[in-house]
Amino acid sequence: MAIALITGASKGIGLALARLMAEYGHDLVLVARSKERLSQLQSELTSTYAISVFSINADLSQSEAPTHIFTQLSQQNIFPDILINNAGLGDVALFSEANLEKQKQMIALNINCLTELTYLFLQQRRQGKQYWLLNIASTAAFLPGPSMSVYYASKAYVLHFTEALAEECKQSNVSVSAFCPGPVATDFQVSANMPKAKGLKKSLLLSAEEAAKFAYKAIFDTKVVVVPSFKNRMAVWLASLLPRKLAMRAVFKSNELSG
Ligand SMILES: NC(=O)c1ccc[n+]([C@@H]2O[C@H](COP(=O)([O-])OP(=O)(O)OC[C@H]3O[C@@H](n4cnc5c(N)ncnc54)[C@H](OP(=O)(O)O)[C@@H]3O)[C@@H](O)[C@H]2O)c1
Repeated sequence: MAIALITGASKGIGLALARLMAEYGHDLVLVARSKERLSQLQSELTSTYAISVFSINADLSQSEAPTHIFTQLSQQNIFPDILINNAGLGDVALFSEANLEKQKQMIALNINCLTELTYLFLQQRRQGKQYWLLNIASTAAFLPGPSMSVYYASKAYVLHFTEALAEECKQSNVSVSAFCPGPVATDFQVSANMPKAKGLKKSLLLSAEEAAKFAYKAIFDTKVVVVPSFKNRMAVWLASLLPRKLAMRAVFKSNELSG
């Protein structure tokens, strides 16, 4: 069964995906900062399923982290067939009032780390084998996001980078997809200081388990850009019909920081 490397596997969508893929029999490499959560998950999965689980504690916003991960893996003779770039960070703030360090950490994690892990993953491929790459973007990738300007821009990068890479890899042995969920009920909202989802956002909300099921399907799907659930696809499509300025103001309002 294909070996999957999942970043941000200690909670939220990454945790739900790790549990789902263990159930389907995939060997796993789990990456996150929290040692305790990862070792608890490792023993939970290896005591429940006949799979091997290797966990790596790393702060992926640190520039040396991607090389550190792939060096450790090759020393262990572990060569992932699936890479799921899931770890990500958000922040709700007017940019001029935002914590600059947190904005820089978001760029380091959501963009730099994802790009370098993708590069190192593609380098370790072997002839004659199939590989899969799933980059977790967001419905935020489709529009500028006042009050989450850096986050929305970082997800736009993930979407465009992944679409371009998918085109480049069309004739190769790696299938590339971008997964663009709308709001998902995880700790993400808390760490992003996001106001509680209500109204339209609440109706679009997915559980982490539901998002994980859609994400797993997206890995092997031929579609390059996957927006889970009909409601979220409708929301993205309707926003694309609106004049961009209007759509952007709607986003600003939905993040409740508009004056
Ligand atoms: N929740 C949503 O509404 C939503 C919507 C669209 C897209 N997304 C995207 O989905 C992905 C997963 O988000 P989530 O909702 O599952 O969030 P979450 O519950 O906050 O989980 C984030 C995961 O990333 C890890 N992580 C965060 N910073 C890290 C760092 N510097 N180094 C290593 N690992 C780090 C966390 O583990 P540690 O704290 O243990 O390091 C955790 O496992 C993100 O890319 C997010 O942008 C989320």
